[in-house]
Amino acid sequence: MTKTVFINDVGPRDGLQNQSKILTPTERITLINALTSAGLDGIEVGAFVSPKAVPAMAGTDVICKALDHSNCNYSVLIPNLKGFELALHHDVKLASLVMATSNTMNEKNIRMNNASTLSMMKSVIDMSQDSPVSVQVYLATAWECPFEGKTPINEVLDISEQILEMGVNKIVIADTIGAADPHSVNEVMNKLSSNFGSDKFACHFHDTRAMGLANVYAALEAGIRYFDSSIAGLGGCPFAPGASGNVATEDVVMMCEQMGYVTDIDMQSLLVASDLAIQLTETAHGGNAKPWLNKQYSKQ
Ligand code: COA
Ligand code: ZN
Repeated sequence: MTKTVFINDVGPRDGLQNQSKILTPTERITLINALTSAGLDGIEVGAFVSPKAVPAMAGTDVICKALDHSNCNYSVLIPNLKGFELALHHDVKLASLVMATSNTMNEKNIRMNNASTLSMMKSVIDMSQDSPVSVQVYLATAWECPFEGKTPINEVLDISEQILEMGVNKIVIADTIGAADPHSVNEVMNKLSSNFGSDKFACHFHDTRAMGLANVYAALEAGIRYFDSSIAGLGGCPFAPGASGNVATEDVVMMCEQMGYVTDIDMQSLLVASDLAIQLTETAHGGNAKPWLNKQYSKQ
């Protein structure tokens, strides 16, 4: 099994969408550039969503124009066809559709039920086949929905199969409210890996119940090598009550590297990005290991 772990930082989107302080596009670009310098494999740089629904993501067009898209795998979140058209227009290479496992969460998030989301996704994915934009899918509330409770594993398997049949290369299995535990992560990710192949999946964990890192470990054990995390542990979803920050990128990188995995991320630069995220938002705390990491890297 490969020892390379690919990390996609979702701080500039998932992290910033729910902050009380809304950052300007210029501030967001500074954060994205700091993350790019640290050598992240991917960065979710914004969302082409309704600015009324998520005011903090307004200006994603300005950000996409300012970035050099050959530097990193920059992605944006899109909720619908209009989002895809905007991604295409702004030279984005990777766009992420999002679908929750539950009808209620889908309605709250993108105002569509599961059936209409699936058919909308099929049209967008078909359209992407002959375009320069690749599309991947986030499967949200994969362990638990804040409105409908625990998600049956068969629903995750069934929806994943339907999405893969549409022709996407990657599904990000997301624990939107941070309700998963290592046992359930292992169960879901093992089943998905054995049915469809581990390279088809990434994992996205929130650290609400302090099990984020343990969940990353459980997914690694199930063969998953693609992870989302958020610089300084920023995060939260405005439409999912109880969702707190994502597992912090600095903690995930530290754990993976200490266990012998390779991330190709420069920790010293990552700590600079983490400091910047804290300074800009005035609310982020930094990863749990940040005080220790600061000591280690100030000695070098
Ligand atoms: N980007 C920007 N604007 C969009 C858009 C998009 N992808 N899709 C729709 N809009 C605009 C429409 O043009 C319209 O604008 P107007 O009021 O100026 O005419 C307005 O949004 C409403 O359009 P409508 O199609 O009726 O959408 P809606 O009110 O049913 O909302 C979504 C649907 C998907 C646009 C909205 O719920 C949304 O943006 N959700 C994003 C959720 C999100 O980011 N969640 C993050 C956690 S995963
Ligand atoms: Zn999230």
